[in-house]
Amino acid sequence: MNPTDLETSPQIKTTDTARAIRDLCFIETQFPVSKMSMESYKERKANYSQTLTGLGKWWGRKPLVLCRAAILGLLLPATDDPTMDREVFLRLMTMDEEGLLRRKSKNIPIKELFKRLPPADRAGYFAPGSDEDEARFKKALSKEYKEELQKRVFLGLSYDERLEYCDRPEQIDGPSAESWQVINGHLGTNASSLPDLVAELGKRRFGHVPRVGDAFCGGGSIPFEAARLGCEAYGTDLNPVAALLTWAALNIVGGGPQVAAEVRRAQREIYDAVDRQVTLWGIEHRIEDVSAAEWKRLVRALEDGELTPGDIFRLVPRADAYLYCVEVVCPETGWTVPLAPSWVIGEKSRCIARLVPDRKRKRYAIEVHSGVGDVEMKAAKQGTVRDGYVVHPILEEQGKNPATTQQIRMAGRGKDPTAQHHESGLRLWENDDLVPRPDDVFQERLYCVRWMTAYERENAKGETVWDEEKEYRAATEHDIRREETTLRLLREQFHDWQAKGYLPSMRIESGYNTDQPIRERGWTHWHHLFNPRQLLGHGLIAQRPSALAARPRVAITLWLGILANRDSRIVRWVPSYGVETTADVFSNQALNTMLNWATRGITGYLSTFALGGGSILPSERCVAEPHDARSVSASCDSWITDPPYADAVNYHEVGDFFLSWYEGTIGSVFPEWYADSRRALAVVGSDDAFRRSMVDCYRNLAAHMPEHGLQVVMFTHQDAGVWADLSLILWAAGLRVTAAWCIATETGPATGEGNYVQGTVLLVLRKQTSEETTFLDEVYQEVEVEVRRQLNTMRSLDDAKDPNFGDTDYQLAAYAAALRVLTSRKIEEIDVAYELTKARTKGERSPVEELIERAVKIACDHLVPRGVDTHLWKSLSALERFYLKGLELESHGEHRVGVYQELARGFGVEEYKPLLASTKANETRLKTASEFSNKEMGDTGFGPTLVRHALFATCKTLETDGPRDGLNWLTTEVKDYASSRARILEILEYLSTLRHHASLPHWHKDAEAAAILAGALRNRQDNV
Ligand SMILES: C[S@@+](CC[C@H](N)C(=O)[O-])C[C@H]1O[C@@H](n2cnc3c(N)ncnc32)[C@H](O)[C@@H]1O
Repeated sequence: MNPTDLETSPQIKTTDTARAIRDLCFIETQFPVSKMSMESYKERKANYSQTLTGLGKWWGRKPLVLCRAAILGLLLPATDDPTMDREVFLRLMTMDEEGLLRRKSKNIPIKELFKRLPPADRAGYFAPGSDEDEARFKKALSKEYKEELQKRVFLGLSYDERLEYCDRPEQIDGPSAESWQVINGHLGTNASSLPDLVAELGKRRFGHVPRVGDAFCGGGSIPFEAARLGCEAYGTDLNPVAALLTWAALNIVGGGPQVAAEVRRAQREIYDAVDRQVTLWGIEHRIEDVSAAEWKRLVRALEDGELTPGDIFRLVPRADAYLYCVEVVCPETGWTVPLAPSWVIGEKSRCIARLVPDRKRKRYAIEVHSGVGDVEMKAAKQGTVRDGYVVHPILEEQGKNPATTQQIRMAGRGKDPTAQHHESGLRLWENDDLVPRPDDVFQERLYCVRWMTAYERENAKGETVWDEEKEYRAATEHDIRREETTLRLLREQFHDWQAKGYLPSMRIESGYNTDQPIRERGWTHWHHLFNPRQLLGHGLIAQRPSALAARPRVAITLWLGILANRDSRIVRWVPSYGVETTADVFSNQALNTMLNWATRGITGYLSTFALGGGSILPSERCVAEPHDARSVSASCDSWITDPPYADAVNYHEVGDFFLSWYEGTIGSVFPEWYADSRRALAVVGSDDAFRRSMVDCYRNLAAHMPEHGLQVVMFTHQDAGVWADLSLILWAAGLRVTAAWCIATETGPATGEGNYVQGTVLLVLRKQTSEETTFLDEVYQEVEVEVRRQLNTMRSLDDAKDPNFGDTDYQLAAYAAALRVLTSRKIEEIDVAYELTKARTKGERSPVEELIERAVKIACDHLVPRGVDTHLWKSLSALERFYLKGLELESHGEHRVGVYQELARGFGVEEYKPLLASTKANETRLKTASEFSNKEMGDTGFGPTLVRHALFATCKTLETDGPRDGLNWLTTEVKDYASSRARILEILEYLSTLRHHASLPHWHKDAEAAAILAGALRNRQDNV
């Protein structure tokens, strides 16, 4: 440690045992990246049972556990006892051994216990005859013993395995009393809860309870977690939908069990009223099953309160799903053809729709059959749209060529000369269009209804209970009439409901994603994305909340959004085994139109919104509101942000899908908010304008924090290389990087599976305050020192048994160290802001980019593979380093192509592909000696290098079953053989170690050959 680092801080008190290092915080010196990755992944896997996701869809939500770690990491001081700092941090996060035991909520299955226990110890717990397939506890094994066994096996598991049996940190009540003693002992605090500690640490660092802000708050993870930890939380986002979600996180989820109960009550009351209304209208029941007089009697009894909708359902089946498809006229045959990519309705029920030609009317009847055989299931999977072509039985019978949907679309152009058309050929719908007009190219057809019939049965206890049976039937004339009634009822309300804001009235503004429904269906308003049944059902809900208090009212509004995401003209029907329901509109981030889709019955509404208990947050200290990050005027001690950086989500476009339903509530509950997406201000893209707006946003945030304030900027991207670009933006905004960590948030940690593994990079930043200027040359020298120091610190902290850092972590940390130096002062030769936005010709690099690249190279040069001597490393060319470092990555099971690209970038090599045996996304690896054979030889590139010669000689040794030819090659073909011999030997020895790696089976023979050759070379040297 640098002695000057040990100066104690004026603000930060020291304890008896450890001294704070200036005002450095934990996250500036270390971060448990490996464990954090596993925790983040665990939270992600929880899908809808995550704490905030139940409030509604928002893209790119950050895991709460990561937000918690970032906030605590900023508040905790770094001391001269980094090991203890780490222990305290893990205890606070309940990620230490004791914390994990507290979080353990599931029992390890008995078979697993048996398997994991050393054979010698099994007799103490398990009955004789137990084995891995059938293990039984010994008779009368006490509860205490069973618990002790659970604990023993649990503590023997890897961190990842342990998490399988644990709740998330947020689900328990923080550290134990014993942990608090250790924490307080190290920090010199007197806390017994996380908010206590946060208040104490905040007072030390900032003089008050810390104020944490997020100016790109999205779904609200960061402000919510900050508030939960006891900080003052300030969340803003340009998009009012995001502001509403954050407000709801703070005030509804943060309102605790009482608010949750209030919301549930309101939701139930509204649901009951909607259910009653729909039952009275008779638009969802199969009323033809009873006589007209009987139905009338039931309706009257419902009106008089003698019967409930539930009672009526026991007498008359009701629908819970309606399946629709698009219909077009085939230009080749003149037949009206229903379109679907597949006519399978349910895989489990083996239900399909069958097209039966009606030659008289030149259209198809659609029959629905359940329990069909494999042949029919297979035929139904074919659908009537194949690769964009409309194919149907009559067309095939007539032997005609199919038309594409696009040709059909264009053929409809200008049919109605009074209407506006899109260039795609479709008529543009007007506000009042709720269904296609008779002349429209795309018609809609209800083809199947799933009915629920109630019946009585006896349960296991012998009691009589009600259950329901589901059955698909083809749409009948009665169903069509009910559809007409639904449309009529909707028309009666439509204008009034739109005017009152119950139904969307917003136009769809043109944009990358929003053009799709306009182009593919002619839809011009958001309500066009919903059919009459959906608009009527959702509108009935929207109509109710005006009398409610703000929190339940917002909750009901969010319910509408969630419902819209599951019940729209653009939801897919998923026939898969065990699913047979609608998928979410936003199962991806596009507004894809559907050829066939489904609508839910009212009974399917309730399950879409389920609010958990939540925690009680002090709402007066939590603020959420819409703002452009450039115009935020409140100051925060720390800003933790996750900007729309390099993520391809057009929040301002897709967010409007929800805003169209929320507009009314926003206007009345938050009159001071705006209720449009302010598209023009959205930070999006990757061009100069984007960079300029990012600089402006961060300059504003830097201006709204104290001199000793801190920032964490998170961003998630597959290509970790974009961090350098973002760092430049932040540098130009007046911030300097103090640390960078990469957390794998999107998939299993260290699995190496899939290039879809996404890392979230956390850049830690402070204000740029130094007036000092420096020169480029000096910077390079400092970068060297800092990179070395950073890597040494990390290595000393890493535990070989429980490794925290992987190769890519060292790489990123080395880059961060380089950035720390670069961004710490002004550099005489460079004006960053100017360079960042200056127009450049293709391929031209700015001096800043060159500077970063050089710094990165310095960083890479220090990433010496284990087992390679530093002197040898320094003498190698960039390609040789890439190759040897790449082999090390490979030996750690790393096969993602992006990681090798990043490595190549780091070493500044462009022509690295010939060195790879595979460039497939998840199978990337380097060539072995024998795979190279005699390729990549010669006087350029990899050819003349010592590593290449060593590989070729190895290959020869393998081919000829002995070292003679290989040795011969080395002695005659390597220039300056005598002076290179020692280095060749080292290279061969390094290659020979690859035979010990189980993950490199393809290297075993070559590595053996390298070992033989190395032995021969050594002996030869001995003989010299
Ligand atoms: C990656 S998301 C944030 C996700 C959030 N951290 C979460 O956990 O849900 C980025 C956010 O930036 C917002 N945004 C885009 N341009 C903005 C601007 N000019 N000012 C403020 N927010 C903006 C988007 O609306 C989006 O919600």
